[in-house]
Amino acid sequence: MPTTRIILDTDPGADDALAILLMLASPEIKLEALTTVHGNVTLDKTTRNALALLEFMQEKNIPVAQGCSVPLVKPPHQAQGEVVHGASGMGRTNLPGPKTQTIKAHAVDYLIERFLAEPKELTLFAIGPLTNVALAIRQEPKFAECVKELVIMGGAIRSGGNMSPLAEFNISEDPHAAHIVFNSGIPITLIPLDATYKCLLTYADIERLNKTDSPIARFVRDVTADYMEFYLKYEGFAGCALHDPLTVAAVIAPELLSLESHYVDVDISGGVSTGKTYADFMKVAKKPANIKVALDVKGREFVELFIKRMENLAKQ
Ligand code: BDR
Ligand code: CA
Repeated sequence: MPTTRIILDTDPGADDALAILLMLASPEIKLEALTTVHGNVTLDKTTRNALALLEFMQEKNIPVAQGCSVPLVKPPHQAQGEVVHGASGMGRTNLPGPKTQTIKAHAVDYLIERFLAEPKELTLFAIGPLTNVALAIRQEPKFAECVKELVIMGGAIRSGGNMSPLAEFNISEDPHAAHIVFNSGIPITLIPLDATYKCLLTYADIERLNKTDSPIARFVRDVTADYMEFYLKYEGFAGCALHDPLTVAAVIAPELLSLESHYVDVDISGGVSTGKTYADFMKVAKKPANIKVALDVKGREFVELFIKRMENLAKQ
């Protein structure tokens, strides 16, 4: 089985944590490093959470590099993230403070070093705001051509937004970075809300998983506890969307995704639709397609796959 070697840029985050677990549970993937970014909570918390989660999983050989603490232009909105993901960013989990530390290199320098050292060998996943990735593109002109593929959780194409009526959180949190990344020439697969809102993990799923009495099953229950409460209160359903984990389907189950190639960009005009991602379906702009975007997904099949992989991980 060919292995996809991945570096993951992340802002854990309840669903970021689930995406990391799913990568670790997937034999198709070798997770080689994490880079952290501001987003769901402050950078010091996202970095702490990344280190603590890797320690919990006894993953000693995955380095963590800390990245940018604020977006390129606009101010951050982390307070809102704490409402969704809990004050720590990891729901009601209570992982001990990490003993390990980040590597010395800044995430942007680390990304440049790793991708230039092995051009077109590594796949980059970005499941938080795109600040680190945009700065790597700007700092090193060769960076973009060295990335084999970039899989992003972000955007809302036909769907409404979850941060503003039009915009999705990761993109809206740093729209200028998203604009740089989308127009960089890197081969991109985008997993927007159009697909992720069809992948709903329910309380029944959590109960089913916890039939296996294991620390992993309990972690999944606790990390999603605040997240699910938020969905119930504000979105009216008893569960949560597996936004970040769905990116992993691009490697482990691409047949579940309905991918279309389009010219996709983001509004950075500063008006009410700032942060809105759009696809040029009618080819009006006459620009070549720059992104493969998942406009649909076999949602329940993905959730079943996710649970199966968590069950396997819990049994190990
Ligand atoms: C995205 O925003 C964050 O809250 C999640 O971690 C996910 O990356 C969903 O809009
Ligand atoms: Ca995230």
